[in-house]
Amino acid sequence: MKLRTPLMRTFAALAVMASCVITGQALAADAAPVGDAKAALDKTSMCIGCHGIPGYKASFPEVYHVPMIAGQNAEYIVAALKDYATGARSFPTMEAIAQSLSAQDMADLAAYYSSFK
Ligand code: HEC
Repeated sequence: MKLRTPLMRTFAALAVMASCVITGQALAADAAPVGDAKAALDKTSMCIGCHGIPGYKASFPEVYHVPMIAGQNAEYIVAALKDYATGARSFPTMEAIAQSLSAQDMADLAAYYSSFK
């Protein structure tokens, strides 16, 4: 079975490379991403239904109180989203939404909402 040896070497090499890629991604996720407000524009559709159009403050106050996030501090927004994602802060809809966001999404949304004064 001479043919199997190089093939198995290839698989071994691929496995090593794959684990490097995974480690690289984990490291990238740990570093705080820089928020890009423009990149958030196609993500805010998830938020405006409840948090309103930034600058337009009324959004269903008769159903429940939705905090104003436009003009909020960027670090605060990221911290709040991370807390919802981990369950440290509990609110069913926000938990589900925060869990669907990447660290980059959170940074982008925070950059966007914090840009309103
Ligand atoms: C289904 C309605 C709904 C949607 C959609 C929604 N939110 Fe929220 N959000 C809320 C409510 C209600 C709260 C307050 C929950 C609480 O008391 O913890 C909240 C809280 C927050 C907070 C914390 C604010 C504070 O003052 O502490 C942030 C930040 C936030 N939302 C960001 C977002 C972002 C970004 C999106 C879109 C990706 C989003 N939300 C989508 C309803 C929503």
